[in-house]
Amino acid sequence: MSQLLLTRRMRRLRINPNTRAMLNEERVNLDDLIAPLFVKGPGGEAEPVESMPGVFRHPLDKAVEVCRYWMSIGIRAVALFPVIPNELKNHEGTEALNRDNLTLQSIRTIKEALPDLIIIMDVALDPYTSHGHDGIPNLKTGIVENDSTVDVLSKLAVLQAEAGADWVAPSDMMDGRVGAIRRSLDENGFINTAILAYSAKFNSAYYGPFRDAIGSKKAAGAVYLDKGQYQLNPANAREALFDAQLDEDEGADMLMVKPGGPYLDIIYRLKEQSRLPIAAYQVSGEYSQIHAASKLGWLNYQSTRDESLLAIKRAGADLILSYFAPEIAAERNK
Ligand code: PBG
Repeated sequence: MSQLLLTRRMRRLRINPNTRAMLNEERVNLDDLIAPLFVKGPGGEAEPVESMPGVFRHPLDKAVEVCRYWMSIGIRAVALFPVIPNELKNHEGTEALNRDNLTLQSIRTIKEALPDLIIIMDVALDPYTSHGHDGIPNLKTGIVENDSTVDVLSKLAVLQAEAGADWVAPSDMMDGRVGAIRRSLDENGFINTAILAYSAKFNSAYYGPFRDAIGSKKAAGAVYLDKGQYQLNPANAREALFDAQLDEDEGADMLMVKPGGPYLDIIYRLKEQSRLPIAAYQVSGEYSQIHAASKLGWLNYQSTRDESLLAIKRAGADLILSYFAPEIAAERNK
């Protein structure tokens, strides 16, 4: 066998683990990870979310302890999701504006115990509505009404800021909500509450396990809840970039792409388009499919998990919301 005369041998720099580690172009930094947290009413035990192995609905008192532990291993921010009992849900989602609701109580309790932990609070009505939509559907047409929903969301954001949320994160995909929320926050003196806009949120099937977790699937009954009236069409990249531009123009501080892994092209293109920090949400379905396949012995759990996050990072995400965040933090602390 004669030796090839090559000017470039790429494998020279892949030859052993030390060389490869030194030449890593990207790494997932613990500082960039945000941990989602499901909170239910105080008392009782943590309830496992069946379709999300390792994820629990924590009673509020225990949730504080979970946050304390997460902080101790380097998690800087949590995204809170309340599990509202079904009997408090109705067509308009009026529980959202109840000052003593679980959401506001959770923010206040966690903020008081752990003032340095960044609390990110979703702004949308789906935890509170009987049908599971993010807004209020018109009873005659079935269309989720934009402007009346935005009005409620603006009030909701102010209540959340008042309770101690550091960042509010509108996840509803109504038009004009970022501008309206910014104005209400400012009018009420919350000039330092940041808006992390779910700007490119697709009408995705990957949210399935999350809807189990907060019970919005059960609320919607057996039918698959289609949010296509307001969430983006998975086929449309240009529309997504346009919508994100509007959020930026309306005053968003950070833009999010969701889901993450299936939409790396959107992350990449949004990073090119905007100078704002870009976040990506590795959603419940992305998490659960890695668990499911590795349980079957078809994928290696840890390396698939790490590669999935690295891919999101490489596409350009500055921040990553991921259900894997706590265990990655724990591993890095070993
Ligand atoms: C609701 C909301 C959803 C998620 C975060 N906020 C689901 C939806 O739009 O139905 C999904 C998160 C996940 O799947 O992990 N506004």
